[in-house]
Amino acid sequence: MLTPAKVNLVLGVGSRRVDGFHDLATVYYALDLQDELVVEARDDGRIVLRVTGNQPSLRRLPLDGRNLAVRAAQLLAARSAHRGGAYLTLHKNIPLTAGLAGGSSDAAAALVACNAVWGLGLELADLLAMAAELGSDVPFCLLGGAVLGGGRGELVTPVPVAGVQHWVLVLADGGLSTPAMFAALDTSRERGTAGSPTEVVPANLLSALADGDVAGIGAAMTNDLEPVALAARPDLSRVLAIARATGAAGALVSGSGPTCAVLAHDADSADRIAVVLRAARVGRQVLVTTGPALGARIG
Ligand code: C5P
Repeated sequence: MLTPAKVNLVLGVGSRRVDGFHDLATVYYALDLQDELVVEARDDGRIVLRVTGNQPSLRRLPLDGRNLAVRAAQLLAARSAHRGGAYLTLHKNIPLTAGLAGGSSDAAAALVACNAVWGLGLELADLLAMAAELGSDVPFCLLGGAVLGGGRGELVTPVPVAGVQHWVLVLADGGLSTPAMFAALDTSRERGTAGSPTEVVPANLLSALADGDVAGIGAAMTNDLEPVALAARPDLSRVLAIARATGAAGALVSGSGPTCAVLAHDADSADRIAVVLRAARVGRQVLVTTGPALGARIG
């Protein structure tokens, strides 16, 4: 199984709801930065997770029911009354707590893989409903591509994208907590120091995606969580300033951060931007990638 990281091209955050979540007007976009998941059936009913990869923080990743991939397999087994278990071997390429939906993507992969390995034959619609229970970004990770996200993010409508886009990701040390960033935005709005909520995704972003108009996509990219992420991590402002000075089509904080995503005009310019960012010694790692990627899939 391969399963993608995501960036929100637009992350419009509405008001806090009674359930504590926020209504979103977002466009998710899948990147060719992927985790790999191998699932083997066990007959003892247990879900056992093993994780490999080079990230130093991997040893802090929980392997029990606090891990979203384990929870996904447990939820699928419970809902389908499946009595067997699974051995999940996850190779993590997507950085943890980076604002790239790595955990959500692993959960989507676990749903698809266990459905196949256990021979359950569930349809995408069934998996999407379970995905929504697991987390706001999990349904998108099943679909990949580019998707309009409503509700708390779980209401997903695919949107067309023409061509391939070229991205530079600046991975940062440490992570930012998604709940903390949403709470900081609420506080900032109560004090009148944050901009007004973005209620709808700008139509010009959707037309730019459909046309493969990179300049148009870059110009329309926004993130309501960016100001609070920059307040928590002032070092990210320098990353964005350097990226913008390279003539990139657009640059923003991905999701709740701290990864910064830079959209390049083409493959050569992505390589050039990466060289500039590496020379400036920003972040922990600078990666060049492409999109849109497919969602969680066997392959
Ligand atoms: O849905 P998920 O588990 O990914 O959300 C993590 C946290 O992010 C939530 O507990 C909530 O604090 C915040 N969140 C939110 N509104 C959303 C999505 C997430 O407030 N639409």
